[in-house]
Amino acid sequence: MTLSAAPLSPHIGAEIIGVDLSKPITGADSAALLELFWRHQVIAIRGQEAGPADFIRFAEAFGTIEPFFISAFNHPEFSQIYVLSNVRRDGKPIGRDGAGTHWHSDSTFVEKPSSLTLLHGVTVPARGGDTLFANMYDAYDRLDDATKAAIDGRRAIHRYQRKEFVFSGDRAVSAIEQTEIDVLKRARLAEDAARVAASPTEARSNKEPDRLQPLVRTHPVTGRKALYLNAEMMVGIEGMAEEIAVPLLQRLCEAATPQDRILRFAWRPGDVIAWDNASVLHTATFTPPDQPRVMHRLTIEGDVPF
Ligand SMILES: [Fe+2]
Repeated sequence: MTLSAAPLSPHIGAEIIGVDLSKPITGADSAALLELFWRHQVIAIRGQEAGPADFIRFAEAFGTIEPFFISAFNHPEFSQIYVLSNVRRDGKPIGRDGAGTHWHSDSTFVEKPSSLTLLHGVTVPARGGDTLFANMYDAYDRLDDATKAAIDGRRAIHRYQRKEFVFSGDRAVSAIEQTEIDVLKRARLAEDAARVAASPTEARSNKEPDRLQPLVRTHPVTGRKALYLNAEMMVGIEGMAEEIAVPLLQRLCEAATPQDRILRFAWRPGDVIAWDNASVLHTATFTPPDQPRVMHRLTIEGDVPF
């Protein structure tokens, strides 16, 4: 097996050609895969005939799979897999819906955020449900010197908050879609409010303490500097007045995710993607409720960012 890479956009991401997820990846191919991954930051293996066990074996090529901190939507047979879905069976959701709809790196609100996230497109909508990516090496490199000096050595305060159906990251949303989003969000919030009590896992997830994370992190593998942001969960900067910190954080998030430099990944059935949380921001986009979508998600253990 010989691997090659074809860029998915001018600034980030590559499709890797020559991987078959139904077979183990060994020796030289495993090393080549990792090298291509760290170089391109987001990789896609398209149109795979892969089951959950194949997806898990592929993820293990990148490190140790971690359990997700919310356990409400784990796969019934493969508990490492977290299910994202807008599908309902007997009125109950089969996976988590509407999460991650803002520019973020995964689990920035824990001490050791996930190093990688992998998604497997099991059921892919014909319309909507794209995943967007932005390159945080590039975002840091493009900052002016004054901004770099203002954030150098600073830590942002990350606070876990449920931010579902926000869609603040997708600037390509049309007026019609915005109306669909508003209707869906109102319906889901009403359902939440109607529940007697939050589940124990939800109660726990809302008790995550604030976490300080460097605004500029040094990549643990490449050694390069990258902006490290979470648009909806950063609430301030350590030791900086809120009226200065909050607009600065907003400006950083906007500067980091310009429309003309992002990758808009449109899913096809069986696609598998992996991204590098230390150098990439991503956001989910809207999936119309009439379009079934089922994604399997795995994350790989990371270290304390520095
Ligand atoms: Fe995410």
